Amino acid sequence: MDTILSIRNIVKVYPNGVVANKGISFDIEKNTIHALVGENGAGKTTLMKILFGIETPQEGEIIYKGKKVHFKSPLDAIKNGIGMVHQHLMLAPDLTVAENLTLGIEPRKWKIFLDTDKMNEIAKRVSKEFGLEVPFDKRVKDLPIGVRQRVEILKALLRNVELLILDEPTAVLTPQESDMLFKTLKDLKKHGKTIIFISHKLKEVKQIADRVTVIRDGKVIATKDASELTEHQIAELMVGREIKSERIAPSPKVGEPLLEVENLDYINEENIPVLKSVSFKVRSGEILGVAGVEGNGQTELVEILTGLRRLTSGKVIINGKDMAGKTPREIRENGVSHIPEDRMKNGVAEAATIKENLIVDRYYKKPFSKGILLDWKYITNYGKKLIKDFNVLATSPDALVSSLSGGNIQKVVVARELSSNPSVIVADQPIRGIDVGSEELVHRLLKEARDKGSAVFLVSADLDEVLELSTRIIVLYNGEIVARFDDVGGLTGKDLGPYMLGVKREE
Ligand SMILES: Nc1ncnc2c1ncn2[C@@H]1O[C@H](COP(=O)(O)OP(=O)(O)OP(=O)(O)O)[C@@H](O)[C@H]1O
Ligand SMILES: [Mg+2]
Repeated sequence: MDTILSIRNIVKVYPNGVVANKGISFDIEKNTIHALVGENGAGKTTLMKILFGIETPQEGEIIYKGKKVHFKSPLDAIKNGIGMVHQHLMLAPDLTVAENLTLGIEPRKWKIFLDTDKMNEIAKRVSKEFGLEVPFDKRVKDLPIGVRQRVEILKALLRNVELLILDEPTAVLTPQESDMLFKTLKDLKKHGKTIIFISHKLKEVKQIADRVTVIRDGKVIATKDASELTEHQIAELMVGREIKSERIAPSPKVGEPLLEVENLDYINEENIPVLKSVSFKVRSGEILGVAGVEGNGQTELVEILTGLRRLTSGKVIINGKDMAGKTPREIRENGVSHIPEDRMKNGVAEAATIKENLIVDRYYKKPFSKGILLDWKYITNYGKKLIKDFNVLATSPDALVSSLSGGNIQKVVVARELSSNPSVIVADQPIRGIDVGSEELVHRLLKEARDKGSAVFLVSADLDEVLELSTRIIVLYNGEIVARFDDVGGLTGKDLGPYMLGVKREE
């Protein structure tokens, strides 16, 4: 076999003293898909940033195509044929797809003016070659996240990558989009490319990877052929202990409806009816799961429930009060918490500390505020407690959120939202980017909230999660509820599939 990359004894200490990589060594063979897995904060992204010239290691070396290299910047890495699609996407939102694709390598007329025609031509050629379709003239901010990611991949391909790093590319994709991505990755392999693939979804790792490296706490635990390991074995190597998951028994005490939606209609800016006569109730002590292929109205429904979007008509009754058209703050004040699908957009303020992020929705109340002043001592201790309870890997509550790993940022959001004693919890993709060990924790906490009497409204692209957690399930297709399951015992993905795809509907 032909080794394209040798990682030798990489040690990385961040300025705050966190040792993210503690002597990492493994080889990557050319023309393979090599998966890198490990718990949140294990050091995966850090290692990839080192390969891509964003971070500098204190020790160790990287041998790339037989030569020792030290990339000083991403530009340097790109010149040498390495591309990276980041965990949190990094395109310029206000530029068009074609502009983003050619950023830094723009073709120019007489070396001054942008040559837009040529730009589009180059972009189209690569898009066709690899079968990745993107709308070249649209602004990136107007695109769904799956398409944005395709743009990122194309951007790397345009720069002639030989080694492509994908940091949790599927965390934000629907199962259908993931399948498409896997097809692309297999095609890239056929074209002789090498791929490093990071994911918390071990099913995918088994499905796509040739080899797997497991890291735990900054160290390599194993590098093996994917065929030698089961999903379960990979998970146990990651967390270093046994893990088991169970279907959650329905809570014994189901109470009054806390969230009631009646005949909700929503017509969007483009005059398309996105939600049609949606009605459901979630009672105290219940988890109502929404199954459905993403893009069938889930995002809009969640945004309406949490005040981020205005409905066209209908009622949203929360704790007995009609909250339709109220502001997010008024809705929060009425006992609603929200774990948003996009943590970086609606979840955290990156430039703020962990403790600030934990109190943004409650700082003006007792015991965080004493009159006009904030009780920082109390807030610090509160931050420490939540960090511990929610298993956030962080040095202190004063650390900036931007210094956390992706999954740990998600845990900060979950910690804030589940600690406010909410009566209604709107949980949209609650375990996105969270490792298998912490997944268990988040699920347990949602169940505990349910048992304490919260009504939980769960939206997830992961059907297994919906089946595992829900006491009742509704299926959303094309903006309508097409099926309701009040008894989920024995229900499987196969039972839901035909409804999710619109081939079947209940009378
Ligand atoms: N810029 C930074 N400053 C300080 N510490 C950091 C910084 N970036 C990451 N860390 C710390 O380094 C450790 C490894 O983080 P890293 O992002 O590499 O984890 P990861 O394996 O990618 O996790 P996840 O699965 O959550 O994305 C964590 O403890 C994290 O808090
Ligand atoms: Mg990461």
